[in-house]
Amino acid sequence: MLFLVYFSNAQQIDNSFITQLEYGEMLYKNPRGIGCIKCHNKGNKSVIIAKYKEIDKKTKTLVEKLIIAPAINNVSFEKFIEKMKADKTESKVMPTYFLTDDELKSLYYYIKNINKK
Ligand code: HEC
Repeated sequence: MLFLVYFSNAQQIDNSFITQLEYGEMLYKNPRGIGCIKCHNKGNKSVIIAKYKEIDKKTKTLVEKLIIAPAINNVSFEKFIEKMKADKTESKVMPTYFLTDDELKSLYYYIKNINKK
């Protein structure tokens, strides 16, 4: 009997079974869209996500351009929220997301703790 009770409780998946850090990590990898990890990698260093060449209008020569996903582990909460709620990012490279305030809090908690793990 006791065993049955234990079993039915265990089947309810509840956020309290995972820590905020684990929840944040899950969102980092799968935020209902392209995972942050795909561009920002571990988040603690800037990552070159693309290189391309463009003609410089002034010098008429080919110049190499980089698209960089910056390190995000030291970003302020204000900056983070501003970015995550923007409907268009300045680079137009980073996608927009539709995360709830609670999800954003856990995600922020995770990126602030990336180095500490
Ligand atoms: C397709 C690549 C890509 C993905 C996926 C992506 N980002 Fe970004 N992110 C960028 C690029 C490029 C920039 C810098 C240019 C800009 O701000 O648009 C950036 C900038 C940021 C910044 C601002 C950093 C600063 O110092 O200004 C934050 C915070 C951030 N990303 C967090 C996230 C989080 C959290 C996720 C996942 C929910 C995510 N990004 C997913 C490419 C990406």
